[in-house]
Amino acid sequence: MCGIIAYKGWKDASKVVLDGLKALEYRGYDSWGIATGSEVVKRVGRIGESGNVVISPSSIAIGHTRWSTHGPVTWQNAHPHLDCSGRVAVVHNGIVENYQELKASLSSHRFASDTDSETVSHLIEEKLSIGFEQAIKEAAKLLKGRSAFVAKYENRLAAARKGAPLIVGIGRDEFFIASDISAFFNHTKNVQYLDDNELVIIDEAAHFYSIDSGEKVSKRVVEIDWQPESAEKGSYEHYLIKEIMDQKETLYKAINQDESKIMSVAADINNAYGTFLVGCGTAGKVCMAAEYLFSKVARKHVNSYVASEFPNYSHYLTPKSLIIAVSQSGETADVLEAIDAAKKSGSKVISLLNVFGSTMMRASDQYFMVNAGAERAVVSTKATTAQLAVVTLLAYASIGKLQEGKLLLLNVAEQVNDMLNPRYEEHIKKLAEMLKERSDMYIIGRGINYPMALEAAIKLQETACINAQGFAAGELKHGPLALIDEGTPCIALVANDSVKAEMISNAMEIKARGGFIIGIAPENNEAFDYWLKVPDAGNASPIVNIIPVQMLAYHLALLKGLNPDYPRNLAKAVTVK
Ligand code: M6R
Repeated sequence: MCGIIAYKGWKDASKVVLDGLKALEYRGYDSWGIATGSEVVKRVGRIGESGNVVISPSSIAIGHTRWSTHGPVTWQNAHPHLDCSGRVAVVHNGIVENYQELKASLSSHRFASDTDSETVSHLIEEKLSIGFEQAIKEAAKLLKGRSAFVAKYENRLAAARKGAPLIVGIGRDEFFIASDISAFFNHTKNVQYLDDNELVIIDEAAHFYSIDSGEKVSKRVVEIDWQPESAEKGSYEHYLIKEIMDQKETLYKAINQDESKIMSVAADINNAYGTFLVGCGTAGKVCMAAEYLFSKVARKHVNSYVASEFPNYSHYLTPKSLIIAVSQSGETADVLEAIDAAKKSGSKVISLLNVFGSTMMRASDQYFMVNAGAERAVVSTKATTAQLAVVTLLAYASIGKLQEGKLLLLNVAEQVNDMLNPRYEEHIKKLAEMLKERSDMYIIGRGINYPMALEAAIKLQETACINAQGFAAGELKHGPLALIDEGTPCIALVANDSVKAEMISNAMEIKARGGFIIGIAPENNEAFDYWLKVPDAGNASPIVNIIPVQMLAYHLALLKGLNPDYPRNLAKAVTVK
């Protein structure tokens, strides 16, 4: 995780880097720091909350926004990390897996932090007698694990990429290096992509080398033909509620896709000897929902996997397997690892993404955008429903019924538009008020709503810090029912489908043991103690059933005094394994 930005040129580097860090905050916000030609400033907390930071002008600077891996959230552990002399400053993203071994070899050095990252500055220092460029080459070679770093020394910058993204921006007599284009997009659209196992040295020009061979690599300057979407909160207090409300439009954008592209992915699914959907967290639950949808709609089995586990199953992949990687950010390390595993077997990889220009876009054979627009809150909402819409379209398209799928979804989009009104939100606020003291909550679902029960649990955990657990409704009696007590809140995700009667029976079983049943369903039922009405959406019920939970999680967070946009311990893009 973590965001990196560096600048060298004629503008005030500290300002460029501070602005860049704000754009990179989605990668982590435990602490931030910047090193310029003359000072190092570090703070614990979000840069967005640091108020007016005054740093003397400089022509060179590196900056970092941290998501902690090694070492707690302290000033000492905030980057940049310096060598013993204070001349080399390093910002690092990812993990140095062999840091203990490296640290042992640097026993004469004084370490000031608990981080794995600090080994990089001392490694460079150790080799500095052979020159900065050579020291970078040697240090980069020694690092194991997925990471990237930028080092500053005198008026030079150097950066190395070993599995974590870095991109070089080229302006007029100025250079940028960042984890992602958004950090410098206002300054230049001309970039040079640093590929894996490459490094760059920037003096008066940018020189690229292979880390393995040390040989020079020639690089094309690519002009990015893309406008980052502005993501303002507008009149909303938080990104999260704004993005929940955005679903009034984003569903339409996800549905109204280039039909030939959908048909081509559907054809790939039909032709593959095994389709594997991989994703993490919420995206992983979308993959699981796709498995149910393909079974129900297309009578076809596709496999869904938690991306971090996928490499453990990759033994049976062949060049005829198809991997569909689902990711909002396109930067998730576990998904990138799954893609690597698939590529090693010669399998085809198609990504369903929301962020243009992401690492996954370049790592895949093909990509497909879900068009939810910039999602800033760490908690995924509109990207999730857009992903759900796209996998639903694919299921219908795979049996030649794309128009039927589109019609269903367009109807649902219209219903969601009606549903997201202030009266509905008031009804959810009332429920949040009733639940605000509860620390445990359970969510049950069956069929295509089982993955949504798991997703609902993620929403409540990360947004409202509630110990929420999702279950296949049929599983409760095999153990979790023992947790139900007088008043234990339990959300039942119900649809008008073939498993409705069983769902109601399971809700009744919980109610009989004192549970407080919140029914999310198209119709009310005597099993429900509180009813949140949703449209009758047929095979698209996962989309309508998850939206009230998103809202409930938001209002619970507010009542608990939590910042719904920045859940503790998390980051928007999870770039470590
Ligand atoms: O960017 P990705 O979709 O690959 O992210 C995957 C997960 O990290 C993400 O969905 C996470 O679970 C969210 N915080 C959920 O709201």
